Amino acid sequence: MILQKQKQEKMHQNIKHNPVLLEEVLHYLKPKTGDSYLDLTAGYGGHANPILEITGNNKESYLVDRDPNAIDFLNQEFKGHEINILNQDFYSASKQLLSSGQRFDLILADLGVSSPHLNEPKRGFSIGQEGPLDMRMDQTQTLDAYEIINVYSEKKLANIIKDYGEDPKYIKIANLIVHNRPIKNTTELAKIVSKAWPGHSKTHPATRTFQAIRIAVNDELNLINKSIPIWIDLLKPGGRIVIISFQSLEDRIVKQALAERSGNRLDAILKLLTKKPIVATKDELVFNPRSRSAKLRAAVKINKQKKGEYNAYTGQK
Ligand SMILES: C[S@@+](CC[C@H](N)C(=O)[O-])C[C@H]1O[C@@H](n2cnc3c(N)ncnc32)[C@H](O)[C@@H]1O
Repeated sequence: MILQKQKQEKMHQNIKHNPVLLEEVLHYLKPKTGDSYLDLTAGYGGHANPILEITGNNKESYLVDRDPNAIDFLNQEFKGHEINILNQDFYSASKQLLSSGQRFDLILADLGVSSPHLNEPKRGFSIGQEGPLDMRMDQTQTLDAYEIINVYSEKKLANIIKDYGEDPKYIKIANLIVHNRPIKNTTELAKIVSKAWPGHSKTHPATRTFQAIRIAVNDELNLINKSIPIWIDLLKPGGRIVIISFQSLEDRIVKQALAERSGNRLDAILKLLTKKPIVATKDELVFNPRSRSAKLRAAVKINKQKKGEYNAYTGQK
């Protein structure tokens, strides 16, 4: 029992995930004592820890993640605190919180995968390390990359690689995959896909296919699309939301969803805090390479009752 506990603690210490754009997240969320905080992708607490240190508010704050490993970590990290930790996908968690009447001062979504996902070959996310064709963020779900790669029709595969990977060679890649079945692991998949792109390229030729399969396995874009309107409903008037995305398909959804609810329109409910997405500084790129593709967008929910605040109806302050 003691040995098991020590092993767990050692594992806990060894898990590393550097939060991206931390200073910028703090700048745009502006946490203060007593604020309620909803972290929709809490991962390894990289953002949650410093934010909760400032808000000091545990009872009305929620940490969500669909990955049971991240949840185990968070449960240990926040042991003894009253914070609410939910092992759910953020769409179902958000719907549940909305219907139970919870509202938040601060909401953060730091989308995509965590460093432990990419660094553990057995999770199957990494092109560079051999692992099973898995790619599930939630390992209790049944659909995995193996099924998509080895069972889906050529047409369905081609559409996934086109829509979620934007790889112009999607027809050729789907054809190569189907003709090389069964494909057993990530290394085999990467090699087979590379045949569609002979010659040198800066990034690995299978990068876009891996992204596409991962998005399909986890239904990522669909969940983001359906969830953003609920996140905005979950904000209190004057509450702030920050969303960090890691690829253009995600960022497009975020940009459009925020734009549709802000600006000089009668029904605007948000004021955009970032006209252009915020990206990592040169300094951060050096110590946190994962921040390379991160784009942060932020908004504040208009408080129509508060004097001196931007008024969506008159377009004046
Ligand atoms: C980039 S990491 C977040 C890291 C975290 N901000 C930190 O600094 O430790 C993204 C996390 O979101 C989780 N995630 C991705 N999509 C999700 C979804 N639809 N619902 C819930 N969690 C999700 C992943 O499992 C992963 O742990």
